[in-house]
Amino acid sequence: MYGFFLDKHTLVCDGQSLEAIAREVGTPCYVYSAPAIRARYQELDAAFAGHPHAIHYALKANSTLAVVRLLRELGAHADANSGGEIDVALRAGFAPGEIVFTGVGKTAAEIERAVGMGDVGLKAINAESFGEMDRIDQIARRLGTKARVAVRINPDIDALSHPGISTGRKTNKFGVAIEDARAMCREMARRDGLHVVGLHVHVGSQITKLEPLRRAAEALVQLAAELEGDGVSIEHLDVGGGLGISYDGGDVPTAAEYAAAVLPAIKASGRSLVLEPGRVIVGPAGVLLTRVVDMKPQPGGKAFVIADAGMTELMRPALYGAYHAIQAVTPRAGATSTVDVVGPVCETTDTLGADRALTPVEVGDLLAVRDAGAYGSVMGSNYNRRPFPPEVLVEKDGWRIIRRRQTIDDLLQTELA
Ligand code: LLP
Repeated sequence: MYGFFLDKHTLVCDGQSLEAIAREVGTPCYVYSAPAIRARYQELDAAFAGHPHAIHYALKANSTLAVVRLLRELGAHADANSGGEIDVALRAGFAPGEIVFTGVGKTAAEIERAVGMGDVGLKAINAESFGEMDRIDQIARRLGTKARVAVRINPDIDALSHPGISTGRKTNKFGVAIEDARAMCREMARRDGLHVVGLHVHVGSQITKLEPLRRAAEALVQLAAELEGDGVSIEHLDVGGGLGISYDGGDVPTAAEYAAAVLPAIKASGRSLVLEPGRVIVGPAGVLLTRVVDMKPQPGGKAFVIADAGMTELMRPALYGAYHAIQAVTPRAGATSTVDVVGPVCETTDTLGADRALTPVEVGDLLAVRDAGAYGSVMGSNYNRRPFPPEVLVEKDGWRIIRRRQTIDDLLQTELA
């Protein structure tokens, strides 16, 4: 057993007491389970065994250096979405050839660094438009090199996820329309500054139906075959990330089911596979710990439970209406009641969970907001001058702080009064 589970009526992480961690480092704080991250990575890796593949962990999900290093030690490669994430990947020890670089709106400076890095630059720059193809080509020729590029296609597939995190419809800003991608690849093959190595797709995040992921993979395979006929050969097919997790206890596809959906077409194509998962590896491996600072009744009998964490530490509920389970770390005896768990930030949308059945709580009690390992700390903000909380990594034999709490001096350091 790994991760978070009840031990004698109190929630623990790999045998370590969450109450003790919170007492020592203060709240709010994030706690991640290293054994859970390992197990989830290995489960995914094993599901794709038997076909050449590379798991490029999507740093955007959680890019705290110790977490990225842990994934690197497991054999992961990296998916970066900005110059900043490339820097973090390099500092975590990844070689440029282990990094793919995606992102709408790459700046010329970011492209220049990506192209000039190491002997051959990054493993692939996933180009998102004809204009970007031109810029990468020009920069590479100026630097006297050939950039390894892939085309990010937009297959116009509905990911059947939340519209705010769907990226594969033609009305979304991402990628090159599928009907233009073939011409773009053929053009790339003619450019002196470019070496076409792959095709890329990412249709969205928190996807819990396999059909869109299977169709997206098949779109890559079909395009690669057409290009082969055009004399353009493709080394790898990058199916992006997107596999969802269960926030509410409902069924979601397993890693094996995911592999069974995308692998047959990829295998038949004879190309190597690149994956860019984020959430599915780290999401369930983290919680946000927060203490109750106040309680008050609302009209109609429901209470507000006011916590010391809010949208500044976990923006997903405020931004997407996302559901995260919330529980008392050491539940008190007594009947549950329906409450709104809210944060301290001066925004009405600063609600961590509305209409939650919670065991009785009192001011000072510790709550765990579950599945906060992905898109938690990375999306945090300093709004209301709230410093970033500490992050803790738990191992079976102990735990350590991997990011200390920000101070007001840290916050003001860059300001010129
Ligand atoms: N690759 C690309 C090109 C991406 O855009 C993303 C996520 C991933 C990989 C990783 O996707 P994952 O396996 O984690 O689903 N902030 C939102 C999620 C935004 C995801 C953006 N792209 C949330 O909190 O739900």
